[in-house]
Amino acid sequence: MIYAILKMLHLLALVFGAAASLGNIYLLLARGPHDLPAPALANALRKWYRLTALGAILLLWATGLVMLPMRHGFRVEGFALNAKIALAGLLLAIVFYLNWKAPVWARRGGPPAYLPALHLTGAASLILAVIFAVAAFA
Ligand code: HEM
Repeated sequence: MIYAILKMLHLLALVFGAAASLGNIYLLLARGPHDLPAPALANALRKWYRLTALGAILLLWATGLVMLPMRHGFRVEGFALNAKIALAGLLLAIVFYLNWKAPVWARRGGPPAYLPALHLTGAASLILAVIFAVAAFA
């Protein structure tokens, strides 16, 4: 019962995290040569995505770290499970970094040129983490 609730929360966090991650990619795709004429809307969306991603990755780690020993013990074995946890760690680092830096960038008048690469790396990590999760637990 507890395990089922944890797994539901884990997968719901994944749903919210995916929305945030893909939302950022769609904003990148919609940007075009000039920003579309709604910078306030785009900035509001970026903030929602950033905070949603933070909540989602924290919930993924919290539920994952409780489920893992319930199911496997603390020894993490197998390439797929290790790869999944490494990707989740990379994603955690990216989301923390974005949430830490975004207010600083806003004060300084804009994000750095590598921001799109960071969003793409995050989205790729999320998709690969799902693929490795299914491979690990199938
Ligand atoms: C980017 C972050 C993460 C994503 C996208 C993710 C994705 C998934 C998915 C899709 C499943 C369902 C797999 C299946 O049942 O076939 C799952 C289950 C699970 N995940 Fe995660 N996960 C993430 C982070 C973590 C972390 C950090 C841990 C542990 C440290 C963890 C531990 C687990 C465990 C124990 C299950 C349960 C599998 C089962 O009982 O069937 N996950 N995860």
